[in-house]
Amino acid sequence: MAALLLLTNLLTFYFLASGPSRLDLRRLSLPIAWDTSLLAHLNSTRAHLADTHSRVSDLHRQLASSDSLVKALLAELARSRGRPQDGGDLPDEVKLAVAPHKLPLGYSPRMGSDMLHPPVGVACLRFKEELAQYMSYEVGGECPVDDVFAQRFLLKGCEPLPRRRCHPKSRAKYVEPTPFPQSLWTTPHDSSVVWDAYTCKSYKCLVDRNKQPGYFDCKDCFDLQGREKHRWMYDNGILDYGIDQVLATRPPGTIRIGLDIGGGSGTFAARMRERNVTIVTTTMNLDGPFNSFIASRGLISMHMSVSQRLPFFENTLDIVHSMHVLSNWIPDTMLEFTLYDIYRVLRPGGLFWLDHFFCEGPQLNTWNAGRKVDRGPQKNEWYFSALLEKPRT
Ligand SMILES: *[C@@H]1O[C@H](CO)[C@@H](O)[C@H](O)[C@H]1NC(C)=O
Ligand SMILES: *[C@@H]1O[C@H](CO)[C@@H](O)[C@H](O)[C@H]1NC(C)=O
Repeated sequence: MAALLLLTNLLTFYFLASGPSRLDLRRLSLPIAWDTSLLAHLNSTRAHLADTHSRVSDLHRQLASSDSLVKALLAELARSRGRPQDGGDLPDEVKLAVAPHKLPLGYSPRMGSDMLHPPVGVACLRFKEELAQYMSYEVGGECPVDDVFAQRFLLKGCEPLPRRRCHPKSRAKYVEPTPFPQSLWTTPHDSSVVWDAYTCKSYKCLVDRNKQPGYFDCKDCFDLQGREKHRWMYDNGILDYGIDQVLATRPPGTIRIGLDIGGGSGTFAARMRERNVTIVTTTMNLDGPFNSFIASRGLISMHMSVSQRLPFFENTLDIVHSMHVLSNWIPDTMLEFTLYDIYRVLRPGGLFWLDHFFCEGPQLNTWNAGRKVDRGPQKNEWYFSALLEKPRT
């Protein structure tokens, strides 16, 4: 801006200075006889001057507008640079939970940093309102009963959720769990669950839900004397494989540890436990205390969605099982990442038991022959089950 003002002034000065050398303006202001050629000359000089003035002010305007554009760009750049660090306009408790913290002992070669960033799902910061709501509580007090909201936030992509500095709501009384192994097939005491988040307020209600109309996730899963009692016990030659038949495909005792993705109420892990195989079950609490139920049976549950990277090291698990949950509701690209992740955690020779995989006809084409694949048509949709082995090379 300053440079242009200087330029403008120089131009003005030039016209003022150069004018009189050819044309004495002072003399022209005297009442002398008008010489038409002189007048014309003056006229054209004036016009020239006016034209130059208007061009200069055009330049002024253009420069002013590009100047404000640059300022706006710089401000935007500063804002976007600052965002991940300072958390912008987020409440303090959110910043404490998600912002980086300086290491008290300084630079750590193990981390390659002198800062520690608390891990939270990258999408947490995309939903600032939900994040602020989730982190609104009395520090040191009781957490809000917001399980439904929190799980929805997690499923939307804020996974893992940030940690909080509050206690979950406590129960009035707590009854000791049923001893193992009876716990595997005993409906737990109602006191093991805080029921606020669920439509049902007791296990009896959840067991009876099986006979009620309406849709619920894993509707018959809490009835341990119903369908659960027979799941994976028999190979029906079509979609159902029996656990014993699957274990028999390997030398005895070599399938020892594994994972059941979306394992409902944990019956797969219970059946495996009876065969000395330790299975970790991931499950959501979709209008039912699935995680509490699995834990009460004496099995390990993890409240984790299928979107998250599996928290296991590569080449470690003997078996991964998944029924229903891995199917065409998952975006293709994410499903591909999930299948690679399962491959990663399985040891060489490990088994991937894809149980009742749901898909539409054309999607089946992506699977090659040479695997045990059974198909059962249901309307225009297909289910299939497969037992896949990770190559040993
Ligand atoms: C000087 O310019 C004015 C308008 O700009 C015009 O009306 C007038 O005729 C011109 N005079 C001469 C002598 O060219
Ligand atoms: C499980 O392990 C126990 C003790 O090691 C053993 O007695 C039992 O026979 C095993 N059960 C099966 C089904 O392999």
